[in-house]
Amino acid sequence: MRLIGVRGCDALARAVPLASVVTPIACAAAPLEHSALAPAGVQAEHIVRLWDLTLVVCGCVFAAVLAGVLFALWKRRSTDAAAPPALDVYVQPEHRTQRAVVWASMLSVVLLVALIVADVVTDRALSKLPDANAVRIDLTGWQWWWQARYAAGPSHGFFITANELHVPVGRPIVISLKAGDVIHSFWVPSLHGKKDLLPGITSTIEFRADRPGVYDGPCAEYCGAEHALMALRVVADPPDRYAAWAAAQAANAPQPSDDLAVRGMQVFERSTCANCHMVRGTSATGLLAPDLTHLMSRQTIAAGVLPNDAADLTRWIRDPGAVKPGTTMPAVPLTTPDLQALVAWLTTLK
Ligand code: CUA
Repeated sequence: MRLIGVRGCDALARAVPLASVVTPIACAAAPLEHSALAPAGVQAEHIVRLWDLTLVVCGCVFAAVLAGVLFALWKRRSTDAAAPPALDVYVQPEHRTQRAVVWASMLSVVLLVALIVADVVTDRALSKLPDANAVRIDLTGWQWWWQARYAAGPSHGFFITANELHVPVGRPIVISLKAGDVIHSFWVPSLHGKKDLLPGITSTIEFRADRPGVYDGPCAEYCGAEHALMALRVVADPPDRYAAWAAAQAANAPQPSDDLAVRGMQVFERSTCANCHMVRGTSATGLLAPDLTHLMSRQTIAAGVLPNDAADLTRWIRDPGAVKPGTTMPAVPLTTPDLQALVAWLTTLK
């Protein structure tokens, strides 16, 4: 887990030694929404209704069983301990007990069938989101980050981004899920249930966000050493703000204006950074790592591990393995002036 601004970071810091390095910065940020019990969309509402029903039914059954056990114990204590045990129950059937067992069994069957029906009804409701005018996103899970490709829309062209999805409130979102290497799992509990990403198989998840907010979606299937440091963030924007965001994402990176940033771009283009990362509008066209064209529009770097600012970018680029052990991003040997220039340019990628 996590990562920046997630609930439960303190518990995490106790449980995972690495997290104790990461969370002091991380937990300073505002908490994200991460609760299946606080739905922010129609799909999550169906799921929470099923949960509520299951909780009430199972809670009542539990209370009834407990009451029965306590009653039996109380009755046993209230009989005379010195009196010899009544043996006639072994030769004469206890009609009252038999009737109670039959009724309890029938009630159990009825309740179980009711839960199965509710489950099927929920499943059907989940698959019935109309997808007219949907936003279509291809999401690929990699060790340990998310690549998102947005299909062209009426007001913008195709673009790629990473680790942070923006979606418009009130419109259906259709996400095609692929695994680039090993199994991962998409789970944004405030919006929908889980869906695994399986190598070689494309699966689909559809949801709609009905209220603006920032929703947390850590990878939910163990996928290697940094499984816990692979956060996805879903930002649900009002439609006009989403349209502005998408149009800005589809544009090429701004050209650097000051000398330091120009030098930073040259450092980027001639170093190994450009082999893996893409920055549209430059000669860097790599697709093995996050697209950095509008890097500064994202709230975090390294898939939720660090806040996205100049100091943390410097720290991350200088030694990625120290921040996220096992990451596939190598430490690129750069002189301090080159690193400063590189970071100065990266922070212009708004
Ligand atoms: Cu990706 Cu766990």
